[in-house]
Amino acid sequence: MPATITLIDDLAENECRQFDLPDTTFGGFVVRHRGQVYAYHNVCPHLGIALNWLPDQFMDADRCFIQCVNHHALFTVDDGHCITGPCAGDNLTPLTVERQDGMLLIHVG
Ligand code: FES
Repeated sequence: MPATITLIDDLAENECRQFDLPDTTFGGFVVRHRGQVYAYHNVCPHLGIALNWLPDQFMDADRCFIQCVNHHALFTVDDGHCITGPCAGDNLTPLTVERQDGMLLIHVG
């Protein structure tokens, strides 16, 4: 069923925030990178498990890529493409995110 999740748009550059998603185990997350905001399901294409262990922690140490903490796959922030790791060539599943009046609207379904 289509739904919209609303978050306050107060993310700093390269900051991430998790949120629950209906009918999912691990939910999703948003990240601000180079002034744009992106949203993905929190599922690694390698094993189908969550990308993170700590809340809201999805970036690599240099804060250039999204990183799966399990086996260290790296994903480009702007399109979720895996550039290295056991799922190289696969992609995170994107969610549509819209910025409106200081809020982030994440469209689900
Ligand atoms: S579960 Fe993500 S790289 Fe293995």
